[in-house]
Amino acid sequence: MLLDRVKPLDAILATAKKKSLHRTLGALQLTLFGIGCIIGTGIFVLTSAGAQKAGPGLMLAFIIAGAVCVVAALCYAEIAAMIPVAGSAYTYSYATMGEFLAWTVGWALVLEYAIAASAVSVGWSGYFTGTILNEFFNFQLPAYLSAGPLALGGAEGGFINLPALVIALLITWLLMIGTTESARVNAVLVAIKVAALTAFIGLTLTSAYFDPDKFNPFLPAGLFGGFGSGVGAVGAAATIFFAYVGFDAVSTAAEETKNPQRNVPIGLIGSLLFCTVFYILVAAGAVGTIGGQPIMGPNGIPFPAGSEELARQCALPEFRDALVCSNEALAHVLRQIGWSGVGNMLGIAAFLALPSVILILLFGQTRIFFVMARDGLLPEKLSEVHPKWKTPYIVTAMTGVVVAIAAAFLPVGQLADIANAGTLYAFFMVAIAVMLLRKQSPGRERPFRVPALVVIGPLTVLGTLFLFFNLPFEAMMVLPIWSILGFLVYFGYSRSRSHLGKGIVEVPELDPNAPPIDALPLPGTPVPGSPETRG
Ligand code: ALA
Repeated sequence: MLLDRVKPLDAILATAKKKSLHRTLGALQLTLFGIGCIIGTGIFVLTSAGAQKAGPGLMLAFIIAGAVCVVAALCYAEIAAMIPVAGSAYTYSYATMGEFLAWTVGWALVLEYAIAASAVSVGWSGYFTGTILNEFFNFQLPAYLSAGPLALGGAEGGFINLPALVIALLITWLLMIGTTESARVNAVLVAIKVAALTAFIGLTLTSAYFDPDKFNPFLPAGLFGGFGSGVGAVGAAATIFFAYVGFDAVSTAAEETKNPQRNVPIGLIGSLLFCTVFYILVAAGAVGTIGGQPIMGPNGIPFPAGSEELARQCALPEFRDALVCSNEALAHVLRQIGWSGVGNMLGIAAFLALPSVILILLFGQTRIFFVMARDGLLPEKLSEVHPKWKTPYIVTAMTGVVVAIAAAFLPVGQLADIANAGTLYAFFMVAIAVMLLRKQSPGRERPFRVPALVVIGPLTVLGTLFLFFNLPFEAMMVLPIWSILGFLVYFGYSRSRSHLGKGIVEVPELDPNAPPIDALPLPGTPVPGSPETRG
């Protein structure tokens, strides 16, 4: 009964055909779009949290998380090329596993996109206060205004993260008035980020401070810290998985891609592999120069990243300059090895580029809500489009306020872990959807086929489960609690209002002024009427 409402794939594809968007994106643009979504707070900030969990084993953590993402990306490539419509994992699940499970995926995607946007806002705040205010204006923002008080495992010593709150609200406002990022702006920001990371890698790996002994012991907290402990190389992998989150946004561009069979997989896998190599080298440079050993608690287990105990240790003179204590890890490393000027430039790069990651994530969130509202599962009012701005302003404003509040009060590491829990669930379900579709519709056209799906599919399922169970216990628990809330909304509201449940498969526009959801401009693609499309 519960799994009966499966949306007919043909109806989904027919809707997609009707839209007939221009296919303008090539492999390079897609790859750049992917890199634009991927590089952000994960590498610029969470490197500290990763080192606190794994020490030099952080490098291994980047490999483990990258490997899980590559197999998941292959699954995304097959299903995105086959069902190139808005809604990503939510829509794929609707067509294969039915409305209820699709609802759980859409609900979990809130954690992926909205909470990830909060995490990136907090990451940005670290660079804003450290580089812009401290270094350039010699101004120290008081602790109670630069960090939130709430950590799931203890307090962090602050009251509110004001810069994180402000940036999240500012981006929300930009989205509400219809700002999108053009492909050209994305390319410039990608160039800035890649230049900053390249300089970091070049300067650290060739530095006189670089000492192979710093990698010893390589796994101070072991390979496995134990399920739910969130430490060890695998615990660090579960956290810095965040550094890869966002590549799945490439799949949302499948419909606007020339020759998707070739270009979607290149965009997904290309951007991921590119970032994986950079991340490993960055970790090597950071640890090899200033060292990255965790600060251990009395029981020989690293203090939890973002915890009050760790903050107390970090205030001690012997740890003040430790990698694991910095809020702006990469700039801090460069300053420590005598490249303060370049460190500040890297800080400016993060300051400029991270807001675009927030914008892409928030945009993704509003799009998912929009599609769910179009299916009748959320109130139609939410997807109302502003007559002048032509944006779903209500859902954008509501999402933005929640994102800003989470950013104001929670530490970056915990936000990232919560976002990871939701993302891992979505990846898990996409892998199942790909395998199910091969069984349900073996003859259907597949522009791209995952090679050796019998191996890659189960590997994705196991990899996502494995990382999920290595998240810190509190972050892991957020997913079931969030899901219970989701069940209440689904059974209390959505199930009886579902368009599919009422027998409506083709959905009329919800608002006479509304552009169809898929005509909303996609970040990274030229907006109709923009200088880029006018040539
Ligand atoms: N991967 C993105 C980041 O690290 C979300 O900021």
